[in-house]
Amino acid sequence: MQDIILRVEDLQAQFDTTDGVVKAVNHVSFDVPRGTTLAITGESGSGKSSVALAIMGLLPYPGRVTGGKIYFRDRDLLTLKGEELRKIRGREIAIVFQDPSTGLNPVLSIGDQVEEIIRTHQPVSRREAKKMSIEVLGQLGLPDPEEIVRRYPFQLSGGMAQRVMIAIATALNPSVLILDEPTSALDVTVQAAILEDMTQLQERHGTSIILISHDLGVVAQMADSVAVMYAGEIAEYADAATLFRSPRHPYTASLLASRPRPDQESRGRLAAIKGAPPSLIDLADECAFLPRCHKATSECRSEPAPKLLPVGPAAAHVAACYNPMYREDEGTAARRSA
Ligand SMILES: Nc1ncnc2c1ncn2[C@@H]1O[C@H](COP(=O)(O)OP(=O)(O)O)[C@@H](O)[C@H]1O
Ligand SMILES: [Mg+2]
Repeated sequence: MQDIILRVEDLQAQFDTTDGVVKAVNHVSFDVPRGTTLAITGESGSGKSSVALAIMGLLPYPGRVTGGKIYFRDRDLLTLKGEELRKIRGREIAIVFQDPSTGLNPVLSIGDQVEEIIRTHQPVSRREAKKMSIEVLGQLGLPDPEEIVRRYPFQLSGGMAQRVMIAIATALNPSVLILDEPTSALDVTVQAAILEDMTQLQERHGTSIILISHDLGVVAQMADSVAVMYAGEIAEYADAATLFRSPRHPYTASLLASRPRPDQESRGRLAAIKGAPPSLIDLADECAFLPRCHKATSECRSEPAPKLLPVGPAAAHVAACYNPMYREDEGTAARRSA
């Protein structure tokens, strides 16, 4: 039996705006076993950050969770209050956002900021907290941490600042670390180094990671399993090897096909899939991907949106599609087992 640390069940979240209700998260479910990485990917606006923020209880107004459950071990975070909740969010579940410059306090030294978070959650002396912060900064590959703790945020490069943010998030050794596009603002070399540090951190502490990234290269490097989001829903879910080898949902296949390759001219250009995602206000009953889908059948046009169903042969491979894709070499065996 896998040890499930975080379980999201049928999560729904929306933003009640003056233009209408933005249905940002629609019936999203997934498990995160201990010590593994779940990647959530998909185009901008598909609801990835909203899932993360809902887990952290940080959905900004006018956003709110309207349904579902978020279990940390066996406790549903959506039913907990006050001190009980604070002990879990921030300490057991921590988050790192894309832009490190917004996360650090410009008038406090790095040391003060890391020590503060340690001392808010743990009864240790200033000296111990200082020792711990130097240790955790060193573990994250920051050179000369004794010197770094004396610096102020403006004296750090983007990559260093993001490492400090990760240090702050991991100082308390959380069970779950949520990384929301953690390296998207950084150059490729720094990005690779930080991801490598994350992998080591995970191996050392058995941390479960939810990695949000629209970059399939990053997803391929880090993920054990992958959830592909489209219009606030999970369109496809599988272990990473299966998803990259045998995408079933035409959306996943298009994402993979439009991924920039290092050996091609298109390097660095944004992945382009024809058409745009639908507005999440007044979502139609039909499949949200229908207007952009090259595989649509008459069923897709006449039936309500498809549900996530097994599309094997890999266990736990599911896709929400009436006409999932199979490679020629898979023949009919794969279909039959699905
Ligand atoms: N503060 C907000 N107010 C209104 N709508 C929002 C807000 N934040 C996000 N949304 C909407 O929710 C949807 C999902 O956004 P988000 O979770 O940020 O997607 P992603 O992280 O995949 O880019 C989008 O349609 C976005 O416009
Ligand atoms: Mg986002």
